[in-house]
Amino acid sequence: MVVPHPRQSAAAIHQNREQRLCRLNLVRAPFALRLCFGHSHHWRRRLAHRPCAPRKGERSQSSHTRYADCANQVHALKLNRMTLRNTTARWGGITKTFHWLIVALIITQFVLIKLAQNLPAGGEKIELYARHKSVGITILMLAILRLLWRWLNPVPALPDTLKPYERGLARFSHAALYTLLFVMPLTGWMMSSARNFPVSWFHLLQLPDLVPPNRPLYDFLHETHETLAWVLVAVATLHALGALKHHFVYKDNVLRRMLPFTRTP
Ligand code: HEM
Ligand code: HEM
Repeated sequence: MVVPHPRQSAAAIHQNREQRLCRLNLVRAPFALRLCFGHSHHWRRRLAHRPCAPRKGERSQSSHTRYADCANQVHALKLNRMTLRNTTARWGGITKTFHWLIVALIITQFVLIKLAQNLPAGGEKIELYARHKSVGITILMLAILRLLWRWLNPVPALPDTLKPYERGLARFSHAALYTLLFVMPLTGWMMSSARNFPVSWFHLLQLPDLVPPNRPLYDFLHETHETLAWVLVAVATLHALGALKHHFVYKDNVLRRMLPFTRTP
């Protein structure tokens, strides 16, 4: 994310709803590049051969055109640094991190439970359950942050070529996944409270009980937690297949724009 320097001003909002920044003193500054890019040698090297400033012996362009050119380059490079935020065309780095971190933690949840279920009753089993609970609470926290971030950012549109039912399916599966990211941890937490098992976050933070001890409620929540886990597997599988269809059948950029380390326009 780019934090504006006190000497920067906001330029017009770009069509992607990205607020671009430029230095107020750009036009006057003889060291425009240094001012524009601070102490970043990388950017300075990239700009070294650009026609921002006339070379010795060259007829100078009008200062207006010259610095307008420079301002355009500034904007282009600022955009590169703004890839942490979403635009209406692509997901930013923060959203991608949330997405893939949560996917990894959900897989961890299934692995932890499988390992715990294979162990005889004892300390090690209890520790694995405790870790499952802590990772689950982490997923809940990340889901809250992810939705907040989504609310503060533009959301890239799906391609216009999609049929209405495909669009509906995508919206429904995304909404279902977000719901499950909340309901799964909450049913797990409530289930533990109903069984009178305390929940802590990696032994660092003791969490309050959500419900008083209640055996029938525990049985119901256990059933719900288990069923929803398989609903999550089903919806996530459909969702992943949908993403692969975009990539291999429609050959659009829907999957690529969610993958880490990719740059889509
Ligand atoms: C997205 C987050 C979560 C996922 C995907 C998940 C998934 C699962 C799965 C697949 C099981 C095995 C169900 C079975 O076969 O019996 C399970 C069991 C369990 N989960 Fe979660 N869980 C999540 C969050 C939580 C949280 C936050 C807690 C508690 C704070 C929790 C507590 C438990 C407990 C105690 C069991 C064992 C129930 C038993 O066998 O006695 N889970 N979870
Ligand atoms: C447990 C697994 C997963 C969960 C919970 C999950 C969740 C989500 C959610 C909630 C969104 C909607 C983002 C938004 O509109 O704010 C999303 C988008 C996306 N997911 Fe996943 N996802 C999972 C696995 C996967 C996998 C395995 C793939 C790839 C094969 C994938 C590819 C995508 C793509 C490409 C998008 C962007 C769709 C678009 O641009 O409209 N996801 N995911």
